[in-house]
Amino acid sequence: MAFTCLTGLILFLLWFSPCFASYGGGQYDYGHDVNRRLDKRGLTQSFVVGGLPRVNGQVQLRQEVRELEKDKDKWQLYILALSWMQFTDQTSPFSFYQVAGIHGAPGITWASVNASPGSENKGYCPHASILFPTWHRPYVALYEQVLYNIVQYIASLYPPDQLEHFQKLAKSFRLPYWDWAATPPDGDSVLPLSIGGSPNIEISGPNGVQVISNPLFRFTFKPFNGSIFQDSPYNLWNETKRAPWPVTAPDAVSNNSYVALWLDSHLPSYQQRLYNLFANSPNYSTFSNEAWIPYGNNGTYDSLESLHDSIHTAAGGGWGHLAIILYSAFDPLFFLHHANVDRIFSMWQLIYNNSYVVPTPALYGSHTTAEGQIEDSRTPLTPFFANETSFWTSNTVRDHEVFGYTYPEVANKSRSQVIDSINKLYTRYSPATMLTERRKKLIKGGRNYADKKIGQASSQPRPHRSNPLAWNHLTSTHPPMNAVFQGNNYREWIANIGVNRQALNTSFSILLFIGPVPSDPKSWSFADNLVGSLGIFANVGPQGNMQHGKITGTVPLTSALMSLISGGSIPSLYPDDVVPFLRSQLQLRIALPDSTYVDAKTVDGLWVNIVSSNVTAPKAENVLARWGEIDSHFELFV
Ligand SMILES: *[C@@H]1O[C@H](CO)[C@@H](O)[C@H](O)[C@H]1NC(C)=O
Ligand SMILES: *[C@@H]1O[C@H](CO)[C@@H](O)[C@H](O)[C@H]1NC(C)=O
Ligand SMILES: *[C@@H]1O[C@H](CO)[C@@H](O)[C@H](O)[C@H]1NC(C)=O
Ligand SMILES: *[C@@H]1O[C@H](CO)[C@@H](O)[C@H](O)[C@H]1NC(C)=O
Ligand SMILES: *[C@@H]1O[C@H](CO)[C@@H](O)[C@H](O)[C@H]1NC(C)=O
Ligand SMILES: *[C@@H]1O[C@H](CO)[C@@H](O)[C@H](O)[C@H]1NC(C)=O
Ligand SMILES: *[C@@H]1O[C@H](CO)[C@@H](O)[C@H](O)[C@H]1NC(C)=O
Ligand SMILES: *[C@@H]1O[C@H](CO)[C@@H](O)[C@H](O)[C@H]1NC(C)=O
Ligand SMILES: *[C@@H]1O[C@H](CO)[C@@H](O)[C@H](O)[C@H]1NC(C)=O
Ligand SMILES: *[C@@H]1O[C@H](CO)[C@@H](O)[C@H](O)[C@H]1NC(C)=O
Repeated sequence: MAFTCLTGLILFLLWFSPCFASYGGGQYDYGHDVNRRLDKRGLTQSFVVGGLPRVNGQVQLRQEVRELEKDKDKWQLYILALSWMQFTDQTSPFSFYQVAGIHGAPGITWASVNASPGSENKGYCPHASILFPTWHRPYVALYEQVLYNIVQYIASLYPPDQLEHFQKLAKSFRLPYWDWAATPPDGDSVLPLSIGGSPNIEISGPNGVQVISNPLFRFTFKPFNGSIFQDSPYNLWNETKRAPWPVTAPDAVSNNSYVALWLDSHLPSYQQRLYNLFANSPNYSTFSNEAWIPYGNNGTYDSLESLHDSIHTAAGGGWGHLAIILYSAFDPLFFLHHANVDRIFSMWQLIYNNSYVVPTPALYGSHTTAEGQIEDSRTPLTPFFANETSFWTSNTVRDHEVFGYTYPEVANKSRSQVIDSINKLYTRYSPATMLTERRKKLIKGGRNYADKKIGQASSQPRPHRSNPLAWNHLTSTHPPMNAVFQGNNYREWIANIGVNRQALNTSFSILLFIGPVPSDPKSWSFADNLVGSLGIFANVGPQGNMQHGKITGTVPLTSALMSLISGGSIPSLYPDDVVPFLRSQLQLRIALPDSTYVDAKTVDGLWVNIVSSNVTAPKAENVLARWGEIDSHFELFV
């Protein structure tokens, strides 16, 4: 790896003037005086990713995006700053364009941190790598710090009677995260309206209320240069899209309702996967990334990275920018998603603080690492400088508080407190907390447990239910205890899946259904008999060395089986009932992002293995489910 000396490059001016009013509005107008002032001074920003200042000695919280939105004034600062960053001239290294460009396309060299020869155009991000969670930590912190500096400046523009209030709020500004695994408020979708609701929004600011382009809905390239994207139709689209339709049209329109429906239908799957990771993935090597470990433990094929991939493919709507590795960071959802990935990582660290990065060969190369190179806890996390001469490493980012932020679930929290939060947030569709809930009910003489769990996670219309084996994913009627539990134990059922990431030369979905599969692939991602799907996050076209990397992930089956027990299709969760049922009813399909499908037999390296574990349910709220031996039942597909 080669990188040139940074002297003289540390401080950069962020210039904004060229973009004012040149793109048909869309941007907040701060007034003539401000524009003039900005022309003269700009903002300063450093290539060094530091720690944001504490407030009264306290590290500040990153809040869930819906929580932040409740604080109207702070939300205003966030939206204005993000819009500002998106309108910052693309020649600035701190423009949204270049910060997003660190990840993949266009393969820029950032902060003079040069590519290793032959790795140009790859982006700095490591995938299927032991560094996956640790590299993204300073990356998200950099983005947060650019926004923070803009927020401070915007706060200084308010009229005197509001100045103190906004400047105080600005000091506590931290990036929000989007918790895609939490059950949304009644009537809401997993995809918040603030993100997918409208391309334009009304916002209040230092110069009054104005309508601006919603910076969470899309990023518009300014200017658009099609030659930085090697693939069609991305080389035609001058803005980021989600679930674009018609898929190859230059003027394809985003369909955020499609994305919302996809995410809502998969909520049980995301929650189960996340809970299983917290409960049964104590080793950082398997937790952190999705690289296939031959002859691994059959209970640890899932990973934070694989779950994160499924959110990329779903929230991109299959074909949007977010769903393609090289282009994903340009969708403003990327950093909301990655702040949540970082939060999950920090929660996991608090529970398993003795396991961390161990020397491991890289499956793929990146801008500065070669395929096969040994990566360890001292590998520089390029291009993120910790000071003028050194980069951050996995060792130095181990405690996220060095960057001046924290999260509600880990701030000042003990191991049992974080587990308590996990049991509360992510077990709506799992048998794991049935015992503790029953105990509470017995103590309090409260309402029926099942009543409490039936929810309306989405206001989206449900498709017509014509299949006798179908159920509604969003309700979770809990079956009788004796159909699920023997003493304190029950069974978790999962489909382990392995595949060659680039098997289809694009991203794709591996879907599991119970019973007859609907004929229209466009409806598969939210079909009422879909068990779940594994999103394979890939690149478009053949990718050289990346072509052969094998990755793994899971689709949990337990919550679907519980619903089928409640509906009378299966007597119990025990293997004698479940195995014959799954053998006859479980169906596999492979969908491409343009809503066509391919024969599973043509997908290189694909295998699906159905396994289960005898799990001990927690007896207290501050204990996680404990997995036993893994029993391997059958191969769905060889
Ligand atoms: C567009 O990008 C290409 C490739 O990075 C570059 O060579 C070209 O100069 C750019 N064109 C403009 C108009 O900026
Ligand atoms: C973006 O592309 C669309 C469709 O080709 C076009 O109508 C629109 O004017 C373009 N917008 C900008 C800002 O160039
Ligand atoms: C968006 O997707 C939903 C769900 O498939 C569909 O019902 C709706 O018609 C689509 N909207 C547009 C504008 O294509
Ligand atoms: C994992 O599952 C495979 C496929 O069924 C089986 O061959 C292997 O023995 C299992 N490995 C372990 C460690 O149980
Ligand atoms: C891990 O947590 C335990 C218990 O809270 C604590 O005693 C120990 O110092 C921690 N270890 C590290 C490496 O943080
Ligand atoms: C985690 O797994 C890795 C790779 O198999 C191994 O080297 C390491 O010792 C394990 N760590 C712990 C704490 O068991
Ligand atoms: C930069 O950080 C490294 C590693 O922590 C340290 O060894 C070095 O002295 C620091 N350099 C400066 C100029 O602070
Ligand atoms: C952590 O504890 C300190 C001292 O009790 C308190 O002042 C601070 O607000 C707490 N931080 C958070 C984020 O809750
Ligand atoms: C993917 O690209 C490679 C290299 O061009 C080619 O050999 C392979 O057939 C392609 N696979 C599919 C499924 O199109
Ligand atoms: C599950 O394991 C427990 C002990 O951990 C045992 O008592 C029980 O019989 C097992 N149940 C099944 C169905 O294997």
